[in-house]
Amino acid sequence: MIRSVVRGFGAALPKRVVTNSELEKTVDTTDEWIVQRTGITQRYIAAPEETSASLGADAARAALENAGLTPADIDVIIVATSTPDNTFPATAVNIQYRLGMTHGFAFDMQAVCTGFVYAVTTADSFIRSGQARRVLVIGTETFSRILDWTDRTTCVLFGDGAGAIVLEAEEGAGTVADRGVLAASLRSDGSHKEKLYVDGGPSTTGTVGHLRMEGREVFKHAVGMITDVIIDAFDKTGLTPDDLDWLVPHQANRRIIEGSAKKLAIPLEKVVITVDLHGNTSAASIPLALAVAASDGRIKKGDLVMLEAMGGGFTWGSVLLRW
Ligand code: ACO
Repeated sequence: MIRSVVRGFGAALPKRVVTNSELEKTVDTTDEWIVQRTGITQRYIAAPEETSASLGADAARAALENAGLTPADIDVIIVATSTPDNTFPATAVNIQYRLGMTHGFAFDMQAVCTGFVYAVTTADSFIRSGQARRVLVIGTETFSRILDWTDRTTCVLFGDGAGAIVLEAEEGAGTVADRGVLAASLRSDGSHKEKLYVDGGPSTTGTVGHLRMEGREVFKHAVGMITDVIIDAFDKTGLTPDDLDWLVPHQANRRIIEGSAKKLAIPLEKVVITVDLHGNTSAASIPLALAVAASDGRIKKGDLVMLEAMGGGFTWGSVLLRW
C-alpha cells in the first residue's frame, strides 16, 4: 500500500522582527495585553521585496535541501495561501518558476488558516492514486499586507512567513505503524463568513481589502471544531490521543491551543507551540512549527503527529501522520 511520507522540511521568515513593545509605539495596545490574551511576544513582518512567493520559494529550497532532492525530483507543487502575490497566476506557479521548474504542475489552495491541512490531504490523494511520486507542499503568507494597522483587535495577532514539506510515495504494509499520512478529516461551513473574512476581492470591490474578525465569536467555535476533527482522524485509524507523540496545531492563539489539548487530555509537553515567536501566520503556521520541532530534534522519525487547524470560512481539519 502506498503512503505519503515526509521526506524533508524547511522554513523561511522575513528578516524583520517586530516585538510587542515596538507595536506599542504605533498601536493602542500593550505587551501585557497581547501576551495574556494570545501568548504572542513577537512576529516577523515582510519587507516590500519579501512576498508570499519569495518566502515560499525559500522555504521550498530549504525543504528540498533537507530531503536531499532537487526541483527535478518534484512532480507537483501545492501552495496554501490567502495572500497570493497576484490574483493570478497562482503563487505556486510563481514558485515553480523561481525554482527553475518547467515540468510537472503547480496550483494554489485557499482554505485560510486550514490551507496547509487541506494541501497535505490533497497531496496525499495525488500520491496514493499514483498521479505523483513527490509533492512539494508549501504554506506561505504575508498577512501584514491585508491587516488594518489601525484596528488593534486584529493587527497585533498576525505575522508573515513560510514553511514547506516534501511528501514522497513509499510502499508499506498499510498498518498504522507505517510512516506517512494515516488519516485526515476536512470540514467547512460558509454560514460563519461574517466572523472572519477579508472585506475586499477582485469580484466584489475590486480591491484587496482588509481582514475583519469577531475574535470572541471565532474563539467560541474554535476548540469544539478542532477537537471534533482530531477525534474523527483518530477514529479512522483506531489510534487514540494516548498514542500521540506530538500535536502540531495551527498557531493562532495559545489559549485555543491549550484549550484543545486539555479537552483531549493531551499533555502540553506533547504540544508544539511557536505562536509566541511567529504570531498567527495562517497557512504557514503548521509547516513553520513542524520545521522548528523537527530541526531541534523533538519530532523524530516514526513519531505519531497530529496536525490541526481552523480558520476563515469557517474551514477546519486535521491530518494524522507518522513522521
Ligand atoms: N490591545 C489592548 N486592548 C485590546 C486589544 C489590543 N490589541 N484588542 C482588543 N482590546 C480590548 C477591547 O477593545 C476590549 O476592551 P473593552 O472591554 O473596553 O471593550 C477588551 O480588550 C477585550 O476585548 P475582547 O475582544 O473581548 O478580548 P478577548 O479576550 O476575546 O481577546 C482575542 C481577543 C485575542 C482576539 C480573542 O478573542 C481570540 O483569541 N479570538 C480568536 C481569534 C483568533 O485567534 N483568530 C485568528 C484567526 S482564526 C484562526 O486562526 C483560528
